[in-house]
Amino acid sequence: MASSDGTPPILELRAFRYTYLEGTPRAVEAVREVSLKIRRGERVGIVGPTQSGKSTVVDAFAHLLRLKPGQVFYEGRDVAAPGYDRQELRRRVGIVFQRPESQIIEDVVGADVAFGPTAAGLSAAETRERVEESLNTLGLPYPDYRLRYVHALSGGQRRRVAIAGVLAMRTPVLVLDEPMAGLDPRGRRELLELLVRLQRDRDLTLIVCSASLTDASLLCDRFVVLDRGSVVADGPAREVLGESDRLAGLDITLPEPVIAARELRKAFPDFPTELLTEEELEAELVQRIGVS
Ligand SMILES: Nc1ncnc2c1ncn2[C@@H]1O[C@H](COP(=O)(O)OP(=O)(O)OP(=O)(O)O)[C@@H](O)[C@H]1O
Ligand SMILES: [Mg+2]
Repeated sequence: MASSDGTPPILELRAFRYTYLEGTPRAVEAVREVSLKIRRGERVGIVGPTQSGKSTVVDAFAHLLRLKPGQVFYEGRDVAAPGYDRQELRRRVGIVFQRPESQIIEDVVGADVAFGPTAAGLSAAETRERVEESLNTLGLPYPDYRLRYVHALSGGQRRRVAIAGVLAMRTPVLVLDEPMAGLDPRGRRELLELLVRLQRDRDLTLIVCSASLTDASLLCDRFVVLDRGSVVADGPAREVLGESDRLAGLDITLPEPVIAARELRKAFPDFPTELLTEEELEAELVQRIGVS
């Protein structure tokens, strides 16, 4: 379906459903029905507890599943239609998978980040430029890191190499599946700052999967909440946070201001929960107790 300006969504799932090992006794219905339109330039957090189907949705965007026609669309074109150019999809949608190890191909950092651009047929000079830019952007200065062995890096550094490899493809869409998982608080903070800067400086459509609304709220302004393979909420971040009772029943991490607001409801039953920052929480509190 087209928007008011006539352009189709950049990515769309239409009643997408997916069952692993379909037709066998071990069949798992991973996604029951997800319909989702993502417009160019949106920053969407796909949030849900473990096994809710987030990575299956990501694999659908990557065209890694046995997709049936009529379910997954890039710029209005059905990616499972006969004759669809999957290479085109790969040039458009960059994906950092949940386990960075699964996408690091080369032993040496520079070679790994160069893999995508080289495979896409870019010249050596342009590839080098992109590798340098991507590593620098990710806080891995090119001269210091290009010859380092991937296996000798920390988990957080390895994740950055994986992200650099995807950035070097300069895709208009960037999908990050659990980018913060397994990082210590400092690693999380650094990566968050980096991603915030990246998304601000480039005209990216960003999709971030996470079991934490805290992480998603720092990067995204729209949340799609999944539970057991279905969408249970979809809307602007604030609107979704306002329905905190529903969210509290799911095994996801709520932002600190939302948790605090829920506590404060015991004293102030009308206390709002659509709060994104500590400042907003404080302002609401000051209004009610009349001091600052
Ligand atoms: N390759 C597979 N074969 C069989 N079942 C699978 C496969 N991959 C995922 N599943 C199942 O599909 C369901 C959804 O999994 P998925 O990985 O999409 O969830 P998720 O929300 O990404 O979870 P997590 O937060 O743990 O990463 C789960 O029940 C999972 O066990
Ligand atoms: Mg996952």
